[in-house]
Amino acid sequence: MIGRLNHVAIVVRDLEAATALYRGTLGARVSAAVDQPEHGVTTAFVELPNTKIELLAALGADSPIAKFLERNPDGGVHHICYEVDDIVAARDRLLAAGARVLGSGEPRIGAHGKPVLFLHPKDFLGTLVELEQA
Ligand code: CO
Repeated sequence: MIGRLNHVAIVVRDLEAATALYRGTLGARVSAAVDQPEHGVTTAFVELPNTKIELLAALGADSPIAKFLERNPDGGVHHICYEVDDIVAARDRLLAAGARVLGSGEPRIGAHGKPVLFLHPKDFLGTLVELEQA
């Protein structure tokens, strides 16, 4: 059911420093930072030949990643995103298997303008999993 690895997301405290690290030290191509007020984050994407790294910084006081930064003051890997062909079919299959979908269970438009869902880390080996309809 799952397809390509779309991205790995890393929460960072300082997006400018993180971007500089990936651009300079690691020699990668990094997109411009984009504020996503509806998600409470600012994102920049590291473009790798086979996938992307999503750099996520908190935006606003009640950012959904503020808690993560409290627990992980240096930042860290936050989620991995797999592509699926049909997100509603994928969700229904997962729910039938007893997995928990976060939030309302309805796909939302994610950082790439495509429908996404998040799956409970307790059901997936301690890893927050994002599904994106590619
Ligand atoms: Co993501």
